[in-house]
Amino acid sequence: MIDVSSNPPRGKALIDILNGLPVSRRPLWFMRQAGRYLEEYRAVRKKAGSFLDLCYNPEMAAEVTIQPLKRFDLDAAILFSDILVIPQAMGCELGFVQNEGPKVSTVRSMAEVKKLKIDGIVDFLSPVMETVKLVKPQLENHVAFIGFCGAPWTVATYMIEGGTSSDRFLCKKAAFDGEPWFDLLIDKLVLASIDYLVAQVEAGVEVLQIFDSWASDLPDLQREKYCYGPISRIIEGVRAKGVTVPIIGFAKGLGAGQIDFCQNISVQAIGVESSLPLKWIAENLIDKTVVQGNLDPVLLDAGGPGLKKGVHHIVSNLPKERHIFNLGHGVRQTTDVKHIHQMIEFVREYDQ
Ligand code: CP3
Repeated sequence: MIDVSSNPPRGKALIDILNGLPVSRRPLWFMRQAGRYLEEYRAVRKKAGSFLDLCYNPEMAAEVTIQPLKRFDLDAAILFSDILVIPQAMGCELGFVQNEGPKVSTVRSMAEVKKLKIDGIVDFLSPVMETVKLVKPQLENHVAFIGFCGAPWTVATYMIEGGTSSDRFLCKKAAFDGEPWFDLLIDKLVLASIDYLVAQVEAGVEVLQIFDSWASDLPDLQREKYCYGPISRIIEGVRAKGVTVPIIGFAKGLGAGQIDFCQNISVQAIGVESSLPLKWIAENLIDKTVVQGNLDPVLLDAGGPGLKKGVHHIVSNLPKERHIFNLGHGVRQTTDVKHIHQMIEFVREYDQ
C-alpha cells in the first residue's frame, strides 16, 4: 500500500500544473522523446539486440529514458517501455519486427481470454520497476517522472488483430457485437493495468499517463463502455490502492468528444490530437481541464518557417497556467534534433 500522506514534490512545473498550482514555466515534454530519431538511442538499441531486450534491460532502459534530457531542457522524463508488455505479461507471445511493428499472438475467443493471466504480471514486469528505480535518482529536481500504460481498448486492438492493423476490423466488430469474451478481455486489462501502474508509482514515478491511441475508432455509442468506462475503472482502482499522483488521459482523435472525455474521467489533464483546433480547445476545454499537446509531429519533422508559426499558434492560444506543451502524437523517427531545439526555443521565447 502506498503512503497517501506523502506530499507531492513542489517546484516541478509538470506536477504543479497538474495539481492546480502556479507554474514557474510552461511544462514541456514530448511523446516518444526517447527513440530512434536519436543516434545515441540507436546505439544502445543495437547493443541491446532487440527493442524488447532493451525494454527488459533496466540499465539500458534507464539510459535511454534519460538520453533526451541530456540534450533538451525538458520538464519530464517518460519511462522507457511499451504498452504491449502488459499482454506479454498476461501470456501472449510478443515480438517487434523491423519496419513492421509489433506482432502479438491473437486472442479471439472466450477460451483464449480465460487463459490470460492477471496474477503475477508485476513479477513478470519487475525489470520495468528496476528501470524506474535506476532513473529516479538521476533526474534533476525540476524534472517529473512519468509512468504509463495503454488503455484497454488500444491494447485490445493489438491483441485481437495480432499487431497494427489498418482498420481494427475484428476488434471493432467484437465491440459492436458486445461479445462476452471481449468484455472479459477489457476487464482483465483493467485489472492488470491497475497493478502495473501501482507498481510503477511504488517504484518512483510521479505522474501517470494512459494512452488510448485508437480511441477514435469508437463511435459515440461505444465510447462510454470501451473508452471512458475502462479508463475510469483503472483510475478508481489505482486511487483505491492509495495512489495520489496526477494522471493524464490521452484519448487520441476524439475531437469534440474530448469534452465528454474530460468530464467523464477524473484526470488532471488530457492530451489532445494535432487536428483539434486551438480556438476550440481554448473555448471548450481549458476551463474544464489542463490540456497537453498538440503540435503535429510531421510539422516538427518538416521544420522550416512553418514550425515557428505552428508553435506560436499553440502557445498564443493556450495560457501557460493550463497548458503542457507536447506533440499530438509521438515524435517521428526521421525528425532532426535541430528542429526539437528550435521548437523548445520558440516556446520558451514566447513565454519570456
Ligand atoms: O519516449 C516515450 O514515449 C516512452 C516509451 C514509449 C514507447 N512506446 C517506446 C517505443 C511509449 C510511451 C510507447 C507507447 C506505445 N507503444 C503506444 C501508445 C502511444 C502511440 O504511439 O500511439 C503504442 C500504440 C505502442 C505500440 C507500439 N510500440 C508500436 C505500434 C510500435 C511500432 C511502431 C514504431 O514506432 O516502430 C512500437 C515500438 C516502439 N515503442 C518504439 C519505441 C521507441 C520503436 C522501437 C524500436 O526501437 O525499434
